[in-house]
Amino acid sequence: MLSYALIQLFKITYMNVLLLGSGGREHAIAWKLAQSSLLTQLFIAPGNAGTAQVGTNIAIAATDFEAVKQTILTENITLVIVGPEDPLVKGVHDFILADDELQMLGVKVLGPQKYAATLEGSKEFAKQFMLRNGVPTAAHFTATAENLEESFAFLATQQPPYVLKADGLAAGKGVLIIPDLATAKTELQSMLQGKFGDASRKVVIEECLHGIEMSVFVLTDGKDYVILPEAKDYKRIGEGDTGLNTGGMGAVSPVPFADEALKQRIEQEIVKPTIAGLRNEKIPYCGFVFIGLMVNNGVPKVIEYNVRMGDPETEVVIPRIESDLLQLCWAAATGNLAGQTIAISPQTATTVMLVSGGYPEAYENGKTIHINGTTAPSMVFHAGTKQIGDEICTAGGRVMAITSLAGTKNDALALSYKAIQHIEFDAMYYRRDIGFDL
Ligand code: AMP
Ligand code: GLY
Repeated sequence: MLSYALIQLFKITYMNVLLLGSGGREHAIAWKLAQSSLLTQLFIAPGNAGTAQVGTNIAIAATDFEAVKQTILTENITLVIVGPEDPLVKGVHDFILADDELQMLGVKVLGPQKYAATLEGSKEFAKQFMLRNGVPTAAHFTATAENLEESFAFLATQQPPYVLKADGLAAGKGVLIIPDLATAKTELQSMLQGKFGDASRKVVIEECLHGIEMSVFVLTDGKDYVILPEAKDYKRIGEGDTGLNTGGMGAVSPVPFADEALKQRIEQEIVKPTIAGLRNEKIPYCGFVFIGLMVNNGVPKVIEYNVRMGDPETEVVIPRIESDLLQLCWAAATGNLAGQTIAISPQTATTVMLVSGGYPEAYENGKTIHINGTTAPSMVFHAGTKQIGDEICTAGGRVMAITSLAGTKNDALALSYKAIQHIEFDAMYYRRDIGFDL
């Protein structure tokens, strides 16, 4: 026991960390990890121009597992933290577990194995998990080409609008909400015929939930958990929540309507049965669980699980965490979360995403980003950016998230919008109404 403790101590005194991913989420996580006294060196693969300011970028794809292995060996990595879902669903954790050389070195991974990542990779799998474990969620029926008549019959029992979800990952585009039954039937057929490729060969038809959405984030080692700050994000491109869905245009934390009573209910009715379900079903899980909720009259129901943090939610969640994030991540990755607590700032964090004109449809990359004067005290988390020579250029639809902390939501928003006045790039767009409904 003592020697085990000594090994743990040794490891957490000399920790090189590899963070996989390249978005605003990863910059926010990297920024926080860089403040840890347990950190020796931080590497980000592939990272962006922002992560390069707090660590060392490695130019490999997060899904190139052989290259990840080489980086682990070359840079003496002890802990791999996985940002996005893609490497998890493709099995990066399983790959590292199956590699004798990496296991001899005791390399740990924060992020679930492939089977558990199916909670995000298959809507049907997630629904069955919720049903088995008594987690409240919308009624559903799973449609395939073989049960079309029954699927139409289930649709007919539902009230409009009709919710159709591609079972598999469809780059955030696989959910359709359709006002009338006839169109819902036609869309269902076109999904089953491959509208979203193989992802929609199965379609989950769901009861439409009403209320307000919010997201809860949990860090777990599969047995114990800590609950991170909750957040609300703004998915639509246009002000007043109009227009196309995006990855997220801004976020706020805490969520003002999430009072103590609601948070208690969420923990008792959703977080506990979810973690107990993982444990009882012997699904190994260490990492973040992102639970998307619909709250109606104080009653929370799960819309979806993601097996990672949200983006841009992370850009408001992380700045409110006062505890050492690396210590918590290490505890989760080594199965030692029991007894760990998390200190959270009472301040409100807001973030506003600056995007490339045209996003979420076609847009141009390579625009020079000018920052004139100071954006302090706001934090600028890079998402789609790239250092080219002396310049930082746009390299994605979502470019930067401007986060501020203040005593109230309005003060935080005022700081973010003031900082944005100092940032400029060709065709820059952002929503001026983040938090408008709270
Ligand atoms: P998902 O990819 O499952 O998060 O769904 C994307 C968005 O569709 C959610 O953020 C909700 O706004 C909406 N949505 C998903 N499922 C439902 C549902 N059962 N009822 C109402 N809205 C839903
Ligand atoms: N902001 C939503 C997501 O990360 O999926």
